[in-house]
Amino acid sequence: MPGNTLHSYGKIARSLHWLTALIILANIALGLVAVRLPMDALDAKVGLFSVHKTLGIAAFTVALIRIAWALIQPRPVPVHPERRIETFLAESVHWVLYAALVLVPLSGWIEHAATEGFAPILWPLGQGLPLVPKSPQLAETMASVHGIFAWLLIGAIAMHVAGALKHAVIDRDGVLARMLRGSPAGDAPARRHRAPALAAVAVFALSLIHI
Ligand code: HEM
Ligand code: HEM
Repeated sequence: MPGNTLHSYGKIARSLHWLTALIILANIALGLVAVRLPMDALDAKVGLFSVHKTLGIAAFTVALIRIAWALIQPRPVPVHPERRIETFLAESVHWVLYAALVLVPLSGWIEHAATEGFAPILWPLGQGLPLVPKSPQLAETMASVHGIFAWLLIGAIAMHVAGALKHAVIDRDGVLARMLRGSPAGDAPARRHRAPALAAVAVFALSLIHI
């Protein structure tokens, strides 16, 4: 089925989830390597950064499509709503992931647009952004924000993947199969809480406290 139900993820949501996972994991690796390459490997550093930025904008585009799709689709209910702390944690991490999918590439893009830049985005649509002035100070701040948000994303993915593995290996329930094969799981009535989204906002706000 292309669409979600209250108990299953449809083909489109699953394809977008795994496409996002692939691009994001590849781009995290590229970012970590590119930052750490020494300046005497300048050609490789510039090349990796250009690919990182271009793939990052692809990730941003896929993220916007994914979020638009999630907004018009039913969200499958938690499989174990009676485990309240676990459900709260899982949902808070989902909110952090959704927010990071937008904020990580956007902060990197603003940093790029604020400098003259040595590693161009590999596309014909220009290197600047409307409303973003050339400003070394802004670029420096956005570099810090991008780094902090990227590490928040890495931490959230680590928790998310650990959770998915726990469901598959220890609980042996249908949570991973729900995202892999689209099989239905969970029979609780749909009740949504605002606390996980608020927790995600708090995590982002706290992460910027020293900026
Ligand atoms: C590569 C390893 C990954 C695995 C094994 C995995 C597994 C899963 C599973 C099983 C679910 C469904 C949870 C449920 O039904 O309650 C899920 C949902 C989700 N995943 Fe992943 N995931 C991975 C990577 C990622 C990455 C890299 C991101 C984003 C950066 C991501 C973002 C999300 C989000 C936002 C949801 C919630 C979807 C919703 O209900 O709206 N995942 N993932
Ligand atoms: C979802 C997409 C993206 C992810 C997951 C990501 C991730 C990362 C990571 C992990 C680092 C290394 C941080 C560190 O070790 O401190 C990094 C650095 C960097 N990224 Fe991204 N990034 C993304 C998108 C972008 C985009 C779209 C641009 C620009 C158009 C960009 C520009 C940069 C730059 C310039 C740096 C070096 C920061 C510095 O000056 O220290 N990134 N990124």
